[in-house]
Amino acid sequence: MAGTANFLMMKTIDITVPVVAMGYDELDEAQRALVDKAREYTGHAYAPYSRFSVGAAIRLDNGVIVPGANQENAAYPSGTCAERSACYWAHARYPEARFESIAIASLGTDGREPEVPTAPCGACRQALLEYEKLAGHDVEVLLAGAGVIYRLPSVRSLLPLAFSEF
Ligand code: THU
Repeated sequence: MAGTANFLMMKTIDITVPVVAMGYDELDEAQRALVDKAREYTGHAYAPYSRFSVGAAIRLDNGVIVPGANQENAAYPSGTCAERSACYWAHARYPEARFESIAIASLGTDGREPEVPTAPCGACRQALLEYEKLAGHDVEVLLAGAGVIYRLPSVRSLLPLAFSEF
């Protein structure tokens, strides 16, 4: 009978996000280089409207680091985030290469790096997930703050219950 077949005991499922909080000095050389590039690219943001600058840097398996920065527009929704400017350009420029890791950094409206890292917006998580799927392996995520670096093992871990199949 409709509505009676799928009876389950209701329960709460807790989904946890594995974040490692690290000091900059605890990063390895490659991680530091990626964070440095993301920080450098906050200086390439075009953010006259929000005055919030974001930089991203993606390491590809061909050894290249592709950076990006948020690009705003007078028609606000036409602008794009640093993460998407980097991932779209990375795949357009090197379609055969696969993502290995991404670092993200920001400068607040006061011109200083926030103590706690800025995390990517939902749309960027979804966009990055596509390239993680394409890579066929986890893409490490480093979120840089002035006081702490957050390391996540994968984009997937940033976007639980993701829409990823169709
Ligand atoms: N922004 C990013 O570049 N990445 C994010 O993950 C969050 C937000 C940008 C978009 C906009 O230009 C500015 O930050 C303020 O939202």
